[in-house]
Amino acid sequence: MAKLNVNIDHVATLRQQRLGKEPSTVRAAEVVEAAGADGITIHLREDRRHIQDFDVFAIKNIVKTKLNLEMAASKEIIRVALKVRPNWVTLVPEKRQELTTEGGLDVAGQKNRLKKVVKLFHKKNILVSMFVDPEMKQVKASKDTGADFIEIHTGTYADVKSKKAEDKEFLKIKEAAILAKLLGLKINAGHGLNYSNVMRLRKLNLIEEFSIGHSVIAASIYIGLGKAVKEMIKLIK
Ligand code: PXP
Repeated sequence: MAKLNVNIDHVATLRQQRLGKEPSTVRAAEVVEAAGADGITIHLREDRRHIQDFDVFAIKNIVKTKLNLEMAASKEIIRVALKVRPNWVTLVPEKRQELTTEGGLDVAGQKNRLKKVVKLFHKKNILVSMFVDPEMKQVKASKDTGADFIEIHTGTYADVKSKKAEDKEFLKIKEAAILAKLLGLKINAGHGLNYSNVMRLRKLNLIEEFSIGHSVIAASIYIGLGKAVKEMIKLIK
């Protein structure tokens, strides 16, 4: 049975609009865990556009399941991550202007440097995942760095405009996952997944954990907004 990690960055995105206290990422993490999720994912970006350093420490303190910290392998963020000690880190590429993570990390192109980064985390008993496109060379390179798992970037699969393109992307993910399994890597997947496109991937029975943010937070508006309005009406009337 596959597991679900919920990415709650968008809760911080909303809070940062007012630079206030609401909505609280800690409360959101508690709600996510109470609903049965297997873990919490947050991305401490170099530009701190949503999650802040204090979020990471506060969430680490209350998390009962597992904390996955998504991050660029930059010196500054590595320093924070080593202090926080999440259960695992997912190394992602980061560009300042992007709306969200675009594409997987080029592990093959920086294998030696990433090997050293993996060692640093392993010394503190923090597991390491590489967020990679479903490409054989990236999966093999991830194994070579000593990483514990890969997270397959599903953004291209999620964005396809035709059934033919979806079949092609699905096959790439399947082949990458089979190779990762043969190499003994644990396999996660995420980016762009929603309540319909996740089903096909789940049926593969190769992906252990799905990391999903945007569509879950979006659905929470449809599911929760009515209740929130009713509570306010009760107070006002
Ligand atoms: N996995 C990684 C590595 C990500 O960067 C993100 C987005 O922050 C996600 C998963 C979740 O993607 P989405 O919000 O599209 O579900």
